[in-house]
Amino acid sequence: AKVRFHKWKLNYQTWAPDCVEANIISINGEYPGPTIRALEGDTVVVQLENLMPTENVVIHWHGIRQRGSPWDDGTASMSQCAINAGETYVYKFVVDRPGTYFYHGHYGLQRSAGLYGSLIVDAAGKEPFTYHGELSIVLNDWWHKSTYEQAVGLSSNPFVWVGEPQSLLIEGRGKYNCSATSKSCNATNTQCSPYILPVQPGNTYRLRIASVASLSALNFLIQGHKMTVVEADGHYVEPVEVDNLDVYSGESYSVLITANQDHSQNYWAGVNVRGRQPKTPTGVAVLNYLPNPSARLPAAAPPQSPLWNDYAYSRALAKKFVALKGYEELPPLQSHRQLILLNTQNKINGYTKWAINNISLLPPPTPYLAAMKYKIKGAYDTTPPPDVYTPRTYNISIPPPNPNAVEGNGVYVFKSNSVVDVILQNANTLTANNSEIHPWHLHGHAFWILGYGEGAFDPAKDTKNYNTENPPLRNTVPLFPYGWTALRFKADNPGVWAFHCHLEAHLFMGMGVMFAEGIEQVGRLPSAAMGCGLTKDKIH
Ligand code: C2O
Ligand code: CU
Repeated sequence: AKVRFHKWKLNYQTWAPDCVEANIISINGEYPGPTIRALEGDTVVVQLENLMPTENVVIHWHGIRQRGSPWDDGTASMSQCAINAGETYVYKFVVDRPGTYFYHGHYGLQRSAGLYGSLIVDAAGKEPFTYHGELSIVLNDWWHKSTYEQAVGLSSNPFVWVGEPQSLLIEGRGKYNCSATSKSCNATNTQCSPYILPVQPGNTYRLRIASVASLSALNFLIQGHKMTVVEADGHYVEPVEVDNLDVYSGESYSVLITANQDHSQNYWAGVNVRGRQPKTPTGVAVLNYLPNPSARLPAAAPPQSPLWNDYAYSRALAKKFVALKGYEELPPLQSHRQLILLNTQNKINGYTKWAINNISLLPPPTPYLAAMKYKIKGAYDTTPPPDVYTPRTYNISIPPPNPNAVEGNGVYVFKSNSVVDVILQNANTLTANNSEIHPWHLHGHAFWILGYGEGAFDPAKDTKNYNTENPPLRNTVPLFPYGWTALRFKADNPGVWAFHCHLEAHLFMGMGVMFAEGIEQVGRLPSAAMGCGLTKDKIH
């Protein structure tokens, strides 16, 4: 196994992702950040220098389990102290599973500010499919409002929602209509020319797709081409052929595409919003059939996705993904503990928040990992949050009758190697007849998706219908409006792990919980991961 060493300098930079000039966070002057490529079993080392003069930073390696290195999970207040302006921190971790991953800022709204990139781990052995070449894209949504302005609005009373994005970006590129803005906008800036996906006619490609969207559920498609989904979040799935693919924030996929259409033309790849009434035009890239010039734009209009509120379509599609037979570990048949986590939109002293079992997560200044490992008193609330919501008769189809929730920072602590079931329960928001999609992401683990259902989860009945035969292993899963999602995982990775809605604005508003297991087996924390909050005197 090799060591893949990267030296990164993070800074603010002027960039025009959708032709409108903005401030982004760049890595070594690039946006999106440089791709990390490694072979299964390699060690990735990233020496990160924070040159942003006014902001701390951390980077999370999304989908990497961080076995033996929980302090390098890159979550501020959780796994480490944030890296101060001017400081350097060295992340070091083993990439123990092949797959399509990515990295992103995990401090404030830095992901929305453009701090992200691809992390691809090649398989050491043979994979269950073949292709001629590889392509890779990361999708996201983009606002003209700065992330400072967004953050202020989200934490104000009255609440100011971020609103729908101005653009959808494919690999950091979109195109805003310059005549619709008073901001500095240049339609011919090469930073906003569409991303090019070059293909040889007749060949088959593995296209890796990930979403770091701040808010939007997305649907990706390529004009005139079918896609066969073969991998999801670093795990193989039974091949599913689709015309278009829902990609929720935090998810990644590999699809196989064959360049089998009229090769005198180029084709649009497009991305559209789902689950919220779209106010954002289709984001596009160009599937470039060589040797056509890449600048030859497709004649047709950009491709359209299924209706934004066709949830039946999205639910049916999500259920099609099952583990590829013979390639993936199957779940234990029983669990030791069951959590039922109700997702509600609430008010705390008049401020709008999200809460889980009526607690809105407000991480403490002392990172949990150090606090738990060194038993630092007073660092966080040692009373664990409730395993199930109360009252159990809570009506999920109306706005919360008592919208008041509380802030908290307690931790669900699991017995080492125990098997945990989590049922995510969706509900109506503060607005009548409204419930939203939440993509939930678990750090440090993959989980099996045992099932999805509509309405309130009924333990007596619904657990009987769990799929334990071929459930897919994922690290991110959608929770559909007014529905529930059940998952199972093994608490076999010593550390403290965030489990949260991957919509950045929602996590910012408290939509997450903390999990911990096997703290006594965690090795000595590097001094560089500490120094803030109550960890000061733990530095050796
Ligand atoms: Cu990609 Cu905690 O997130
Ligand atoms: Cu959410």
